[in-house]
Amino acid sequence: MSSKITIIGAGSVGATIAYTLSTQDIASEIVLIDINKQKVEGEVLDIAQGTCFRDPIAITAGEYADAKDSDIVIITSGIARKPGQTRIELTQTNVDILKSITPEIVAAAPNALYVIVSNPVDIMTYVFTKISGLPENQIVGSGTLLDTARLRCGLSEHFKVAQKNIHAYVFGEHGDTSFVPWTGAYISGVSVDEYYKLLRSMGRDVEELDKPGMLEYVQKSGGRIIANKGATFYAISAAVCKLCSILSSSSDSMATVSSMMHGEYGIEDVCLSTLTLVGPEGIRGKVPMRMNKGEIEQLQASANALKAVIAQIDL
Ligand code: LAC
Repeated sequence: MSSKITIIGAGSVGATIAYTLSTQDIASEIVLIDINKQKVEGEVLDIAQGTCFRDPIAITAGEYADAKDSDIVIITSGIARKPGQTRIELTQTNVDILKSITPEIVAAAPNALYVIVSNPVDIMTYVFTKISGLPENQIVGSGTLLDTARLRCGLSEHFKVAQKNIHAYVFGEHGDTSFVPWTGAYISGVSVDEYYKLLRSMGRDVEELDKPGMLEYVQKSGGRIIANKGATFYAISAAVCKLCSILSSSSDSMATVSSMMHGEYGIEDVCLSTLTLVGPEGIRGKVPMRMNKGEIEQLQASANALKAVIAQIDL
């Protein structure tokens, strides 16, 4: 793979994405752009000097024009969530930042796939979809990709089973109204509930899964990390790099990413995460995973919460 990837924003998340990409074989060229020239120069020098232990990879600090011919542009700009602050409180500030950078970056790289990471990510993905003028398939919000990773971590620890065998997802907003559609949660071909019974029948000492507790673990992880170390950046960067590898590969993958809804589950004109087919052409479409009535209602409630925020922001 040999993608050119441009990252807008050299804060903790943008710089860590650049570093993580520099340790993998997804990009052959990485451009890091930030209004703080001193910071971006420092980050690029630090990351580039670590690449002497691998095959050559170009890492440069740039201007918007340097994003030309990028395969992927990752937008991380914005003010980070502060301890105690909700993602929604950040909204207008980060929307204004996004509005200021969108015309320039889109003019420089009109054919790139755009990965929106800035929080609140579902709102930012919606705003970018509305103001960029780009085809919707080119716009992918990181959404609940990270929440799904946190869920898989939690389930893997609970059941002591490899993460690669876990097919379970977090849907909805990347935030307080996210939820787990347990109807679609499987350990390989076995439902999570059946898997528990299976382990018990094998004499394994495993507790019944506390589903509300597991959702709380997922939802509170970001806030817990921010309270302890001031910011979250490693896991989101690993998730975004995985997304870049999906976007650079030759086949599609299923992932929980945020994109525009068009009537799926009765929801439209809002961006949120459900199971989505995504690949080298960007978003192919939402996958109608079977959910029960209560789960569909939770998704609709999440959509309504996001719509209430959208109604309050100045687009
Ligand atoms: C988190 C931030 C990225 O959940 O929103 O870690």
